[in-house]
Amino acid sequence: MTEASRTPRTRLPTDSEIRALHARHAPTEEAFALVHTHCEIVCAIALRLAGSAGLDVDVELVRAGSLLHDVGVYRLYDDGGRLDHAGYVRHGILGHELLRAEGLPESLGRFCSHHTGVGITREDVVRQGLPLPPGDYLAESTEEKLVMFADKFHSKTDPPRFLTAGTYAAHVRRYGDDKAELFAVMCATFGVPDLRPLAAAYGHEIV
Ligand SMILES: [Fe+2]
Repeated sequence: MTEASRTPRTRLPTDSEIRALHARHAPTEEAFALVHTHCEIVCAIALRLAGSAGLDVDVELVRAGSLLHDVGVYRLYDDGGRLDHAGYVRHGILGHELLRAEGLPESLGRFCSHHTGVGITREDVVRQGLPLPPGDYLAESTEEKLVMFADKFHSKTDPPRFLTAGTYAAHVRRYGDDKAELFAVMCATFGVPDLRPLAAAYGHEIV
């Protein structure tokens, strides 16, 4: 038995506990459907990639982290049910705060605050004038990197859509060649998911 397997760790919430947490914080049925479905899809992509790439990751942490990564979006809706698009980049830190207030471990909160784009640096915050406390918001563990990567292949647009690697690469290049290069490295590390089965299952188109 390894040292790690002897160390008891915090129990992670089950799928149904996470679903209930979403339902508790979603301001509307529509918001719940949009965000929770997206999280389910990101979870499916991340777990498939973990398997196909033969990654040595904590699968339970990937599952719970991906299912929770976007809960902060619920905090961006106003009383009229409208989403604050201008402040959208804050959904990560808002989600981390939400999970902290729920008593969930930092290891889960980090999936919220460290999954945006291909990682946000202190320089990005300053240079782009982002509404975030200056700091680095970069995925560090393989689990965090995998969830951040899987998130790039599905978008909560109206209607929601799957994005190919080429579509996301073209999008992220607008933020700099260094960002596009980071995405290319992740594609090589984790592989590019086959989105067709999920697109068929959820009825979202691939663009
Ligand atoms: Fe997401």
